[in-house]
Parts: sequence; structure tokens; C-alpha cells
Amino acid sequence: MRFYATTPIYYVNARPHLGHAYTTIITDAFARFHRLAGREALFITGTDEHGDKIAQAAAKNGQSPLEYADHISGLFRETWPRLNAEPGGFIRTTEDRHVRAVTAFLDRVERRGDIYFGRYGGHYCVGCERFYTEKELVDGLCPDHRTKPGYVEEENYFFRMSAYQDWLIDHLKKNPDFIRPERYRNEVLGLLREPLEDLCISRPKSRLDWGIDLPFDDKFVTYVWFDALISYISVIGWPDDEPFGRWWPHAQHFIAKDILKPHAVFWPTMLKSAGLPLFQHLNVHGYWQLGQAKMGKSVGNAVDALGLSEVYGVEAFRYFLARDMAFGLDSEFVEDALVARYNSDLANDLGNLWQRSLAMLARFGGGVLPADMEETPGRDLAVRLAEEYRAHFQNLAVHKALAAAWELVGALNKLIDVEAPWALAKDPAKAGRLAAVLRSLVEGLALAGAMVWPVMPRTGEEIWRRLGLDPARMDMDLAGPRRNLVPGRPAAAGPALFPRVEFGGGLAAQAEKPAAPPSPSPKAEPLAPELVTIDEFRRLDLRVAEVLAAEAVPKSDKLLKLKLNLGTEERTIVAGLARHLRPEDLVGRLVVVAANLAPAKLMGITSQGMVLAASRRTPDGEELALIAPSAIIAPGSRVS
Ligand code: MSP
Repeated sequence: MRFYATTPIYYVNARPHLGHAYTTIITDAFARFHRLAGREALFITGTDEHGDKIAQAAAKNGQSPLEYADHISGLFRETWPRLNAEPGGFIRTTEDRHVRAVTAFLDRVERRGDIYFGRYGGHYCVGCERFYTEKELVDGLCPDHRTKPGYVEEENYFFRMSAYQDWLIDHLKKNPDFIRPERYRNEVLGLLREPLEDLCISRPKSRLDWGIDLPFDDKFVTYVWFDALISYISVIGWPDDEPFGRWWPHAQHFIAKDILKPHAVFWPTMLKSAGLPLFQHLNVHGYWQLGQAKMGKSVGNAVDALGLSEVYGVEAFRYFLARDMAFGLDSEFVEDALVARYNSDLANDLGNLWQRSLAMLARFGGGVLPADMEETPGRDLAVRLAEEYRAHFQNLAVHKALAAAWELVGALNKLIDVEAPWALAKDPAKAGRLAAVLRSLVEGLALAGAMVWPVMPRTGEEIWRRLGLDPARMDMDLAGPRRNLVPGRPAAAGPALFPRVEFGGGLAAQAEKPAAPPSPSPKAEPLAPELVTIDEFRRLDLRVAEVLAAEAVPKSDKLLKLKLNLGTEERTIVAGLARHLRPEDLVGRLVVVAANLAPAKLMGITSQGMVLAASRRTPDGEELALIAPSAIIAPGSRVS
């Protein structure tokens, strides 16, 4: 089985922005998902460079259309790898191979008798590069751009699209999942209830000469949509048989709803007329919106995708886009929501699970991978969640697939809490159970690594590598990692996967001046005037400690009771962290404690030391950051 997917071929009238990034990232994620499922997968993208819109944008920029297109097309091409998206092909509609395909395609349609010459007048929106009927306009304006289309009347060539209306309706009825999700299929069927008009497929060169010549009349160029759609086959070599024949039967297009009609009506009828088979699916997603308006449509609200991914990290950025949009529906882009997802799903759930599991493995499993065993706690659940994940992904519900992956992460975190490996380790009779728990954690992490890989490829690969598994052989069937985990092989946590970051407000603003260190607050406490000698300082015994357990202190909104491992002993410390951190944020983390502080009683609990944190007063209260070693180091290590 194979999988061939396409993104829209983006116009070069604007720089790549979040909207383009979303479709490309999600298409990349689907290609990766299919690879993970053992299929050969290819996804392609490219740039749409002809037409009024580009000619006008180039003129505005004082450049020739090709110079201008070269520049913006280059920006698109270099953007995708920076977002960890790896298209296997990139097509520009100005390339010779594409021009050859468009010419061959037009020849076929013309030979079939589906092209005629006629006169037409209509409302043309340059932003959309298409005519609108009176009925489609909203208060006389383009429904997408909210601008008044110009009235264009001229002699042109037409494609007899109307002849294929009944055939198309029939195809949609016989193939209910041809257009997905269903709401868009219904929209297209609704549209097809009205008589379909023929499609004007040329522009007289006297008005616009930036396009591909019609093979049968060189006074005309091809209408930009008729030209651009053909890039889905020119990029895989058509009119040559290969590699076209290898990929085309498996084709799926990914688009947003703005370009539904050209993909759902023009393209299938064009293919039918040219005697070519149809694609498998048209997958349609909604809009990312900013303050209710669609991003990126000439309203100056486009968000620079790369800018944001640099602030939050590409992997977290991809995760957020995939997790927060229900495929098919619109989604409001809110930076705070991204930050919240980063901290809760990535730093907390996944990042902590990794650190805690590997810390347990280091302490109770000798730091090496445990042997496989017949039964481990939670394995059935893991298998079920992997199945759910697969089913959701197949159904385009990436957000639900990720929710299933996070259910696994949650279950593994809970396993640690419930089984309490530190308690099992104290009882020699429970050594078997302890080994099973550790095995479960390692297997579960390998599976979770595979499940996150389509959306967060570097993270998935890193998890696999650190577990001694070969990412090139990634497999989301638990049997794969089970077979390949090498018992006895050392595995260490390494640096945090998603270091928790205390994001302030206005992240985009911060991104513009990343190098500037925070200016000293005028309210910073003055430095202590009194000096201590090195010997006096050394009397303080500062140690690294691992948080084994944490709970709120009843009747206190400030205090948390922590159980800490100091290497040679366990301690209870009461710390004033409750307003800043949740108990579950702390378990598994390494902190620094003042170990030889005289014990004190707080709310009836004896606190044997103090956890170090940095803090400062802010207008809204207090900001606090725990002091932690920058790399994993054994609990009990001295801090000096
Ligand atoms: N050139 C045509 C497509 C030709 S395909 C043969 C075109 N280009 S475009 O640059 O305007 O890209 C439109 C596509 O960009 C959308 O269909 C979608 O994939 C993506 N998006 C642009 N803005 C978007 C949002 N605000 N939200 C989600 N996707 C967005 O149309």
C-alpha cells in the first residue's frame, strides 16, 4: 500500500504564514503516520506562480513576475524543513515539466471536444482568481476577501464542465468519503443542486500574458486554476507513466475550505475529461482564525509561522497546531493556549513521565533496560490505545489520535503513582513486580515515542534513540519495540525533553528581542551588604534531591509537603510552593535543598530542610522558579 498526499500549491503573492504552515505540517504528519503503519508515503507541495494576482504583486514590488516568484517560492521551499516537514517533491508552476503537463492535459481535453470559444461576462475576484455568480456574492462582495470583484467581459475559451455535473453527483453519492469530513461533501452536493456553469479557462494575452500558452491558440494563456491543479500530477512526472502510475492511484489532497470548489468540482471534472482516474480523497480542514477573521487574507493579520515556532520550539508548535484544531472545523489561534499546552501536555505529562521513568530506572533498575516478560501492568491498555490512535488518524481526527497518545502518557504517570516503585524497592518479595513496572514504563515510552512521531518527529526519534532503539525502524505496534528493546542496555534520561518554561506575557514581542537579558527590576531587592567567608558559606550543606512524592498541606494555600530522596536518606520538607506549582508538577524533578538546616515545624509537620527557589516580587504578586541542576545528576550530589 502507498500514500500520496498533496498540500495546496501556494500562491507566491505572500510570504508563508501560519495557515500555510498548518496544512503543510498536517500533511507531513499524515505522510509520517502512513510510513509508521508500514506504507510507502510521499507528500508534495509547491508554489502557484501565474495569474493576475501574482502579476499585480510583482508589479507592485517593482519586479518581473518571474523574479518575484523566484524569491517568494524560495521562501516557501526553505520554510518547510525548518518546520520539520519533509516534502518529497516541490513543484513550481513555472517549471518546464509543469508547462509540458499542462499543455498535454489541455490537448487531451480539447481532443475530447470539451473546449469551445465564447463570450463571457462576470464578477472576477483577483484574490481568489475566480469568477463569482451574483448569487455567490455577499452584498455584492467576495465572500472571502470582502472586496468588490471587478466586472470582466471578454472572449475566451471554455471547458464544458457542465457536461460532467451528473457524473460528478453520481461519483459523490457512490463514494461517500471522496470529500471528507462529511460537511464539505454536503456543501459540494448543495452547490451541485444548481446548474453547473462551464469554466472559463483562458485569459487573452492582451490583458494578461503571465501564464502558460494554450496549445491551440497562442493569443491566450491558461487560467491559473486550470494550470495549478495539474501540478498534482506534473510533480509526479505525468504525462510520463512513471512515477505517476506508482503514486496517483493513492492520491489524497489536503486543503482548507477556501478552495473547496476548484478541488471538488473543477479538478475531478478536468480529470474525467482528460481520461485520467480520480484521486482517492479530498481532505478539507477549517481556518485558523485570529479574532474571528481568517488569517492571511490580505488583512495584515497573518502570523509569521516561523517566528512563532522559534519562540515555542518547532516541535511544540507542530503539536499545538495538530492538537488544537479539530480537522474540518475552524479554530481560534490563541498564544496563551499554546503556552498552556506546552506546559501541561509536553513539559508536565510527557516530559515528566520521561524524567520520572528514567529516574526510577536509574535508581531501582540499575539504569539498564529491563527484560521482556509475559505480563506487565497496563500492557492491554497500551495496545488498545495504539489501536484507537490508528483509527483516529485514519479518520483525519489527528487531535483525537493525540488525545489517545496522551491517555497512554497519563496511564503511565499514574502507574508510577499507584505502584510507587520506591516502596516496591524496599521489599525484596516485590522485586518481580518492580521489574514489571519498569518494563511497562520503558515499553510504554517507546510506544508513546512512536505515537508522537508523526506530529513531533524529533521528539519521537529522541525518545527512541535514548532507549537504544533505531528510529529508522520505528513501529507503533507494541510488538516492535518489545522485540527491539535490548535488555541490559544502559538508558539514561538525558536533558529534559521539554524544559518547563515560565512564559511571560507578550511572547511574540519577546521573540523580537531574544538576546536582551531581562532588565534589572527597579524593585529588585538590594544585594546583602554583609560578607560571609568561604568557610562560613561551606557550612551550608546544599544537596541535589529528587522529589519522590508531593501533596498539598491541608488548610494551607501556600505549603506543599514533599518527600525527597537525598541519596543516602529520605526526608520530608515543607515548602512554600503551592501557589506556583502543583504537586504533580514536582514529582520526579530534581531540586536543590539546604540539607543541614535546623528542623522546623510547619502546620504540625516537621520540615527537615529547605528547597531552594528564586523569587521576585511583581506587580501581580510573586514570580518563582525552582533551582535545579541543568543535567540529570544523582540525588545526594553536593552543590557548591
Ligand atoms: N494557489 C492556490 C491553491 C492552488 S492548489 C492547486 C491557493 N493558494 S494560497 O496560498 O492562497 O493557499 C491557500 C491554502 O493555504 C488554504 O487552502 C490552506 O491550505 C492554507 N491556508 C491559508 N490560510 C489559512 C488559514 N487561515 N487557516 C488554515 N489554512 C490556511 O489557494
